Amino acid sequence: MADDSGDKRRTRKRRQARRSDKDEAGSGFGVTVRARDLPVKAEVKRVRRKPRAKRQAAELVSPGTDGAQHFTDPDLRRLHSRGYFDEFVGLIKGGKEATVFLVRRGETRLAAKVYADIEARSFRNDAPYWEALKFEDERLARAIKRKSRAGRKAQVALWVMREYANLWRLHEAGVCVPVPALPPEPSAWAAAGSVVLMEFVGIGDEPAERLADVRLAAEEAQAAYEQAADLVVRLAALGVVHGDLSTYNLLWHSGEIVLIDLPQLMDVRVGHAARELLDRDLASLTSSFSALGATVDEGALAARVMAALPPEPPREDLLGPQGS
Ligand SMILES: Nc1ncnc2c1ncn2[C@@H]1O[C@H](COP(=O)(O)OP(=O)(O)OP(=O)(O)O)[C@@H](O)[C@H]1O
Ligand SMILES: [Mg+2]
Repeated sequence: MADDSGDKRRTRKRRQARRSDKDEAGSGFGVTVRARDLPVKAEVKRVRRKPRAKRQAAELVSPGTDGAQHFTDPDLRRLHSRGYFDEFVGLIKGGKEATVFLVRRGETRLAAKVYADIEARSFRNDAPYWEALKFEDERLARAIKRKSRAGRKAQVALWVMREYANLWRLHEAGVCVPVPALPPEPSAWAAAGSVVLMEFVGIGDEPAERLADVRLAAEEAQAAYEQAADLVVRLAALGVVHGDLSTYNLLWHSGEIVLIDLPQLMDVRVGHAARELLDRDLASLTSSFSALGATVDEGALAARVMAALPPEPPREDLLGPQGS
């Protein structure tokens, strides 16, 4: 009898947990992410029919009979209607997890990084990050572990919000990253859904090339490497590791490097995962610069990075509750 009622209690709890996964995606970012902050159900349904990793301009926006642009993508439509941009221009580049488009606000060009549909996202490369993240909300942790719909929705929202938070944090610390085009309030980022809107790095409509794609004279390659080495030391001094650092995520803009692709940035002192990511970053940074023709010394760079790491334990801040 006692076992029986225990079973019933557990079933009831499971049902309640399932119900609340639907109502509330939970927190886990230092801010609360609620279901109402996430894309509304009708919009999610539309996405569900056609999960896409690469987003085509034609499925996001179409010219209306009135000559105005009509946004089929709900997140772009929301950003457009709130005045964050007023014209969609076209494709900049498709990446593994997102497609980046050029848009304009008046005369200002902006880059809109549109993340892949929830179902098309693997989250494979994000594993060390999600393992290291400690959630304030157990329900959210469970939903993510179970890969439930609410869990996956929350993951995309958190991923995008983290990219905004990281861009803001690094920009404010003086690191050369695209300036986010949404204000530094999490509620504004939640409204952006799956889109990171930021400064366009380029000249005219021409985007800056990734360092991995440019051919540089030896001295230029060396100068670019010195900048990248200073950058990674700078990040270490801020207590963070990029997590996917190589010439693929550095743009070459008028002789300056610009760091992009920041959702997976994490606190370097949270333990194993971050330390492994730091080692991996140093190895991929040095080998990609060596391919560019620079002379590199991974050991010397590692020593500079270690010396730059701040001694105190991580704080809970905009980057989220990652520490213990
Ligand atoms: N702010 C920007 N200004 C100009 N071009 C940009 C900007 N952000 C991204 N890009 C271009 O879009 C590409 C993809 O962006 P990003 O690396 O952030 O996305 P991703 O999907 O994570 O890509 P990948 O998986 O290939 O690293 C970049 O390599 C760069 O060429
Ligand atoms: Mg990238």
